[in-house]
Amino acid sequence: MSTPNETSANQQWGGRFAEGPSAIMQAINASIGFDAKMWRQDIRGSLAHAAMLAHVGILTPEEEAAIRRGLGEIAAEIEAGRFAWSEALEDVHMNIEARLTERIGEAGKRLHTARSRNDQVATDFRLWVRDAMDGLAAQQLDLIRAFVARAEEHAATIMPGYTHLQPAQPTTFGHHLLAYAEMLWRDRGRMLDARARLNECPLGAAAMCGTGFPIDRHMTARALGFDRPTANSLDSVGSRDFALEFLAACAICATHLSRLAEEIVIWTNPAFGFVTLPDNLTTGSSIMPQKRNPDAAELVRGKTGRITGALVALLTVVKGLAMTYAKDLQEDKEGVFDAAESLALCLAATAAMVRAMRPDAARMRAAAGAGFSTATDLADWLVRELRLPFRDAHHVTGRLVARAEALGVDLAGLPLAEMRAVEPRITEAVFGVLTPEASVASRRSHGGTAPENVRAACAAWKERLA
Ligand code: ARG
Repeated sequence: MSTPNETSANQQWGGRFAEGPSAIMQAINASIGFDAKMWRQDIRGSLAHAAMLAHVGILTPEEEAAIRRGLGEIAAEIEAGRFAWSEALEDVHMNIEARLTERIGEAGKRLHTARSRNDQVATDFRLWVRDAMDGLAAQQLDLIRAFVARAEEHAATIMPGYTHLQPAQPTTFGHHLLAYAEMLWRDRGRMLDARARLNECPLGAAAMCGTGFPIDRHMTARALGFDRPTANSLDSVGSRDFALEFLAACAICATHLSRLAEEIVIWTNPAFGFVTLPDNLTTGSSIMPQKRNPDAAELVRGKTGRITGALVALLTVVKGLAMTYAKDLQEDKEGVFDAAESLALCLAATAAMVRAMRPDAARMRAAAGAGFSTATDLADWLVRELRLPFRDAHHVTGRLVARAEALGVDLAGLPLAEMRAVEPRITEAVFGVLTPEASVASRRSHGGTAPENVRAACAAWKERLA
């Protein structure tokens, strides 16, 4: 990065200025430190713009060819790490344009005809976010595949189901993982919905009101893979809801990953011992030799904070802005870049953990049988076999649980005589519904936890993902 030059006026806009910006002005104004990340999008946008300008006769074919060649050479320079980014040139747009003029002369100075940095940055940023959406949507799909594969393997692996993190009803590990597949599928849907709304091209809105030049906005939109040009020039340069929607989709997805991360932290705690992670996905402690820490899960949970933070930050940046562009909007990028990169890392780490985690079926089965987890099955039996109203059955079962608790046994261990003391019509047959296996097998309602449902759901997923 070159050093600030406080005396000479900016070569891109300094015509009416007698002197250049102070060091502090330059420091607060420059975005090159982070927006250089969009150099590919900026060059792509400029190539499309130049081709359109030539098409409508604003540039000569020779000028357009020179611009195309120059931008190609600049791309190679940047790729090779040979490009000297300058803070005095503020941002990626002016750095590349200035270098273009340096390389090809006069024609470079014509590139900015009928365009402004306002529509240019809006275009570059949409292109960048669109690429990020595509990458993240593909990773979401990969994670769903991992859930489905493990769910198929563990369709009948019994584990305790919780509400309030208290033992509630037995479920299966497969059913549990497929719950996350559903959540991730909606996350991907949100990403793609946002992509569809993002996919309009602001290029040609110019500073804010459009231009008097006979440009063809449909041509540039098409060249850049947009569905159409944006309809209103003010909205084009002044709106960032495409980035807000992207961040909201990221934050919701990260929140889902964070919940699974929290469960992995719980499951890997030796007091639970439901799951182990391999050495290569855990870390040790520098002081406590016995430790095996689920840092990857903790960091997925932790990074969710910064992703949600990026959403809140940008909402806050935009909320007070009068139409149209204000420099506040330069603050839109870092949070988006960081959120996209953080979520990509979280999705990759989660997929790795899901693929590698080793459930301990015996421990999960033992926990699933504890805590009177089949009490609902007992109440349902009273309803089905004795025609008790559910409310009464709930009450009777509550008394049986209290009795079992007092005797220090689980429901299956409660003698029939004890049960009959509470409800004389109970028969031996009740014991058939009190095991976790019977409990999960019985739950065949649509979306229920029965192993046969989980297997059918896995088959449906595989068809959907094929
Ligand atoms: N670096 C600026 C941004 O990111 C580009 C747009 C500058 N526009 C302006 N009118 N100064 O927002």
